[in-house]
This record gives sequence, C-alpha cells and structure tokens, in this order.
Amino acid sequence: MKDSTPRFRAAVIGLGAIAQGYGSPECAAPYCHAGGLLHCDGFDFVAAADPFLAAREGFRGKWGASFPDTILFEGSESLLTSERFDVVAVCVRGPHHFEVMKQVLEARPGVVFLEKPPTCSLAEMDELLALAREAGTTITISYSRHWSPRVLLMEKLVREGLIGDVQSVVGYCDGAILSYASHTTDLVHQFATGTNRSNKALRVQARGFIPQDDPFAKNIQVGYEIEPRLQHLSIEFADGVLGVQVGSHGPVGSFYADVFGTRGRARVGMYIEPQAFDSQGTPLEIEGFCELVDKGPFTEAYRQIATFLDGGVKPDCSDDGFVHINEIGFGAIESLLAGGKTVELPNQNRTRRIWANQ
Ligand SMILES: NC(=O)c1ccc[n+]([C@@H]2O[C@H](COP(=O)([O-])OP(=O)(O)OC[C@H]3O[C@@H](n4cnc5c(N)ncnc54)[C@H](O)[C@@H]3O)[C@@H](O)[C@H]2O)c1
Repeated sequence: MKDSTPRFRAAVIGLGAIAQGYGSPECAAPYCHAGGLLHCDGFDFVAAADPFLAAREGFRGKWGASFPDTILFEGSESLLTSERFDVVAVCVRGPHHFEVMKQVLEARPGVVFLEKPPTCSLAEMDELLALAREAGTTITISYSRHWSPRVLLMEKLVREGLIGDVQSVVGYCDGAILSYASHTTDLVHQFATGTNRSNKALRVQARGFIPQDDPFAKNIQVGYEIEPRLQHLSIEFADGVLGVQVGSHGPVGSFYADVFGTRGRARVGMYIEPQAFDSQGTPLEIEGFCELVDKGPFTEAYRQIATFLDGGVKPDCSDDGFVHINEIGFGAIESLLAGGKTVELPNQNRTRRIWANQ
C-alpha cells in the first residue's frame, strides 16, 4: 500500500472524528487524516496528540496495527517540541484553532493542514498568515471534498474547456456558514474560477438566520457570536462569473454544484457521478472517469502536500487559496446580519468573532 521509504514526518493534533473517526484502515477511501496518511505514499505518521484518553485509545484500537510506531501525546506542546515535522494536521474544533495554530507555527513545519473553518474571525486569520509567512510555513485548509478525485477530474476538464468559459456556478448545501456550508462555498469557488485561476470574488450578498437552539453553541464563550445558518448566498467574481449557493439540498443532495458554461453545463460533486452536456443537451464524454481510482479526498490532499514538500506547486486551498473562501464566508455573515446588504470584499469588519464549532 505504501512505498518503503517515507520522506516526510507527519503529526496530527486532535484525534476526533475527522482525524481518525470517519472510516477505518479497511476502507478503500477512509474520510479522515489517518486514512489519507495511510494511503498516500511518502509520509511517516510519527506522532499525534489529544488530551482525552478515550480518543488516544480509540486511535490505538482502530489504527494501531497500521501505525504501530506512532507516539501518542496528551498535549500538543510536548508533541511539537519532541521533533521537527514536515506536516502537522490540526484537527481540533474551530474555537481552538487559533491557539493551537500559534503553537504549531512556532514549530515551523513545512505545511500545516488545518481543518476548516480556519478561524473564528478574520483578525485571527490575518495574524496566522503573518506568523506563517515569518515561519516559512504554508497553511492548507481542509475543505476536504475539494480533493475528491472525481471533483479534481472535473475541475481539470472544465479548466481545459469542456463546457466553454464558465459563466455561473450553483452549489447546494445548508448549515453553519463557516463550519459546514463552507465545503460548498469552496466548490463554487473552485469551479467559478474555472478557466481563470486569478479570478477573485468581489462582493457577496446573503440571507440566513441565527439558530435559536444551537447544540454546537452550548459552551459558547464571551465575545463570540452564534454561527449563522445559510439560506442563500450570491458571489460576484471579477470577470463577471456569478456563484450562487442555495442553502438547502438540491435535486440530488448536497455538496455538489451545477456549472454553466458558454458551450454546455456540468454537474460536479464528491457523492455524485460527474455529468456534462453540450448546449443541445447531448451528454459529453467524461474522459478519464472510468479509469479513476478513488482512494478518497484525504489521500489526494496529502498527495498534493507531498508534491509541494518535494519542491512542487502549493497544494490547493493554501494561503491565498483559502483566504478567498474565508472572506466570502465572513462577508456572507456580515451581509445576512445586515438584512441581505451587499458586502464588498475583502471585509472591512475583521474583528467579529463567530463560535464556529461544528
Ligand atoms: N473536513 C471535514 O469534512 C470535516 C468533518 C468533520 C469535522 N471537521 C472539522 O474538524 C475539526 C474537528 O472536528 P471533529 O468533528 O473531528 O471534532 P471532535 O470533537 O470529534 O475531535 C476533536 C478532538 O480534538 C481534541 N482536542 C481538543 N483540544 C485539543 C488540543 N489543544 N490538543 C490536542 N487535541 C485537542 C479533543 O479532545 C477531541 O478528541 C473541526 O474544525 C471541524 O469543523 C471537518
């Protein structure tokens, strides 16, 4: 399954659901960091930390045979001072990201693979980016469905002109704007920049609501606001492309998007078979789909991280690549709190703190 000579030393902070809970070593495509590290060549999963004994025991029970040498720590500080890591995955809940990230950046790994939502405020994001620049560290955000092999294949084909120039993208997903719906915001962004990587989101407009009884806000701390839920969001891009996020399931579920181009349309998402049609509605061939080997998005994400650590291009959703998504998310919150007003990006308000805890 792995090559015999791992080149990069990896650590994981937080051993909950997304670190090791979704999937198992037996799965073909486990949806978690441990699964990605298992299936991707090049990594040695050296250490992990979690203050909860049950989480450490859970990891050992499920993944121990796959990673017999992984050292488990109670605290992230002791993990980070134990040695230097090439990549550190930060898999704690959103409100803990900022403090843990500051510790991690002091240790100067090559890449931090940080779970979404990156930060609870834009001020936190600005500070982390400045610290990362100083440390020479790249921050990659785990909008994980971004790396679904079928999504990446469609991204490549759309960029190559499968449906002409992209004109609009409509994605489907409800939920907490930063913590949950952001997967689809990222998908809309991924395809709205279809044939033009430098395309930027200029302004957003959103409607939504504050949940009255939010189970994720039980322990909300002073100074934070409850995370709003999305009803709809529109995003205007610099080259005139329109992105829309519908805050509910679409006809075939969530976490997918319809992409409209000058010569046809495509349907893309992690959980659906990709489709494309020309302007007359005739199905187009999805070249490469039949041969696709799907080991899951985390395997692909770690493959991009390994390529970068080997001297190649930056992984997707890194640095500026995720800043746009976070600006859109916070812009949507500003807009919906102001009753649907248009908000220009980048956001003026950088200090609003949202309890992004899902
Ligand atoms: N990419 C995805 O599809 C996806 C899915 C679920 C969750 N997430 C994100 O992953 C993050 C974690 O979510 P989860 O559902 O796995 O949470 P979880 O509660 O299951 O796990 C978090 C773990 O972090 C540990 N922890 C807390 N503080 C710590 C610290 N300082 N050092 C080390 N460990 C610490 C906790 O003990 C817990 O075991 C969140 O940001 C969430 O939004 C992403």
